[in-house]
Amino acid sequence: MKVAIGSDHAGFELKEYIKRYLKEKNIEVLDVGTHSEESVDYPDFAKKVCEEVRNGADFGILICGTGLGMSIAANKCRRIRAALCLYPDMARLARQHNNANVLVMAGRLMGKELAGWTVDAFLSAEFEGGRHERRIKKLEEIE
Ligand code: RB5
Repeated sequence: MKVAIGSDHAGFELKEYIKRYLKEKNIEVLDVGTHSEESVDYPDFAKKVCEEVRNGADFGILICGTGLGMSIAANKCRRIRAALCLYPDMARLARQHNNANVLVMAGRLMGKELAGWTVDAFLSAEFEGGRHERRIKKLEEIE
């Protein structure tokens, strides 16, 4: 499994933690930045992660302070379904019902342990299809 990950300055510390967390699980991680706590603009990193997902990464992970800016930016990209998840159950349902391909988290609101469990839930759940497939098709029609 290949995961593209990106953050702004407010998500940098959590991104570094999640990157190590995934590598310890032998998951391939592509880090698109940012690479320090110097102030940057979250849309630049949302765009990079979404491009990686469209080009073949299995999933994307985006982190900013609240997760709000990253989710707004990522959901403007075609074929991206980005879900801001603050708890593992949200992440599981984002995969099962929404077939989310990008997990967004809040670096300033989530502890590292909770964020790790949220990533685990997202990566281990599967899209349920069925009635949810019809709804995803309607999302694509909006695009
Ligand atoms: C950066 O200060 C902060 O605005 C950003 O990380 C994010 O929370 C925006 O939605």
